Amino acid sequence: MHQSHSDFGKPSFMPVHQQQDSPKVLKLGAADVLPLRQAVLWPNHPIAFSKVTGDQDALHFGIKKDQALVCVASLFWHDDSLRLRKFATHPDHQGQGYGSAMLIHLVALARNLQAQTFWFDARQSALGFYEHHGFQATGDIFYKQDIAYLRMSRRLDVR
Ligand SMILES: CC(C)(COP(=O)(O)OP(=O)(O)OC[C@H]1O[C@@H](n2cnc3c(N)ncnc32)[C@H](O)[C@@H]1OP(=O)(O)O)[C@@H](O)C(=O)NCCC(=O)NCCS
Repeated sequence: MHQSHSDFGKPSFMPVHQQQDSPKVLKLGAADVLPLRQAVLWPNHPIAFSKVTGDQDALHFGIKKDQALVCVASLFWHDDSLRLRKFATHPDHQGQGYGSAMLIHLVALARNLQAQTFWFDARQSALGFYEHHGFQATGDIFYKQDIAYLRMSRRLDVR
């Protein structure tokens, strides 16, 4: 990630993910990511609903555009694997490459941290995004709060 905040002023006709540099992924605190999490993932629930067990010990990340958070995600250790949770791009900024930049950064980070597996429960509605990034679903569809999910994972200790 080489982009500084000032680089976000690049011409808007070029999607971010096609620009030479990727947007900068910032390390944040649990409280920083909560509002965007809630607004995108669980807009009809109170903000406390978007907190998860382990948030205090998790790693939290964000991408900003014009000082405002446009994408957030969190990583949770489970033994020697890292679990991606609460990944969300603001609706006004989806499809502009922020989610891709975040996912690529987090997979690379997980490798650097020597996690053996990178995994998550994907909303079925986002399956295409993850497949686009080379992830494949394992197992059957399951439901949380009436939303359909599929588990996806990738071993990081084998190339
Ligand atoms: C899934 C999500 C995080 C992706 O973030 P994003 O910033 O929109 O991602 P990108 O702009 O990098 O998208 C990259 C590509 O995936 C596509 N894509 C994005 N979301 C998609 C989806 N839900 N289904 C299929 N394709 C998707 C984009 O159109 C883009 O395609 P392109 O490269 O051909 O233009 C975002 O769409 C989001 O917050 N969705 C709602 C919440 C959600 O489902 N979170 C994930 C929970 S598991």
